[in-house]
Amino acid sequence: MERQPADAVVTVERVKIVYRDPNGRPFVAIDEASFTVRPGEKFVVIGPSGCGKTTLLKAIAGFLAPAAGRIVVAGREVHEPGPDRAVVFQDFDQLFPWRTVLGNLVYAMRAAKGVPKATAEARAHHFLKLVGIDAAAAKYPHMLSGGMKQRAAIARALALEPDILLLDEPFGALDAITRSQLQRELNEIWRRTHVTIILVTHSIQEAVYLGHRVLVLTPAPAVIREIVDTAAAEDVESPAFVALSHHLRELLVTPGQAKRDAVPAGQATE
Ligand SMILES: Nc1ncnc2c1ncn2[C@@H]1O[C@H](COP(=O)(O)OP(=O)(O)OP(=O)(O)O)[C@@H](O)[C@H]1O
Ligand SMILES: [Mg+2]
Repeated sequence: MERQPADAVVTVERVKIVYRDPNGRPFVAIDEASFTVRPGEKFVVIGPSGCGKTTLLKAIAGFLAPAAGRIVVAGREVHEPGPDRAVVFQDFDQLFPWRTVLGNLVYAMRAAKGVPKATAEARAHHFLKLVGIDAAAAKYPHMLSGGMKQRAAIARALALEPDILLLDEPFGALDAITRSQLQRELNEIWRRTHVTIILVTHSIQEAVYLGHRVLVLTPAPAVIREIVDTAAAEDVESPAFVALSHHLRELLVTPGQAKRDAVPAGQATE
C-alpha cells in the first residue's frame, strides 16, 4: 500500500505527462500537477480546450503513464486501468454497436468483474432505471439519441460499481435541456451512491452546479491555476453561485500567475 493522506481517495503528486509529436519531439501536456480528491467528492476539472483535461483523466484511469510524479488511488499507485475506475469518454460512440444496451452493461460487468449473467442482468436493469432509459434496454446503440447513448454509457460505468467515476465532458454535445436534466440526474445518482466523481467540463455553470471543488487548469502545458471550493453553491440563482461563476470565469480569461497567454475571452465560458 502507498502512503496517502487519510482523507484522499485519489492523490496526484507532481505529475508530468509528456506526448511525442510525429517527429518524436516531446510535448508537455501536464506539468507538476498535485492535488487530492476526497472519498465521495464531486471533483470538477475545468480549463480551455486542448489544455490537458482529458490527458489528466486518462492518467488517473491508467491509460497514460506519467513521465514524472505518481498517481495513487485507494492506496495503490496507478499503473493500468482497473474496474475501480470507470470512465465515460468524451465521444458518443463508446458502446459496442453489436450489443443491445442491456448487453453492453451485462458484458461490462461479466468481463470486468465476472458477475454471473442473471445477477448482471438484474443489476443492468437497476442502473438503466437509475438513468431513466430502462425502456430502451433491448435497443441497439444506433437506435438511441445522443443523450440516451450518454445515459447508457453512464449506466454502464455505474454498473461496475467503481470507487471512482471518471466523466469526460459527458454532456458536452447535448442540447441545453437534456444537459440540465442529466446534470440534475447525476446529482441525484450521487446522492444515492456517494460515488467519487471526477468530471471534466468546459461549462462554468456545470462546474459550479455539480462540483464540490473545481480545479482550474491553465492553457497547455497545463498547470493548476487554482482549486475553488464550490460546495456551497448549487442553487443557480443564489448570490454564491453567481459570485463563484464570476470567479471561475476570471481565472479562465486572465493570465494570472501562470507564465503564459490569457485564454481568449469566451473560449471556455458559457
Ligand atoms: N495522443 C496524443 N499525442 C500527442 N499529443 C496529444 C495526444 N493527445 C492529446 N495531445 C495534446 O495534448 C494537449 C492536451 O490534450 P487533451 O485532449 O488532454 O485536452 P483537453 O483539455 O481534453 O481538450 P478538449 O477540451 O478540447 O477536450 C493538446 O495540445 C493535444 O493536442
Ligand atoms: Mg478533452
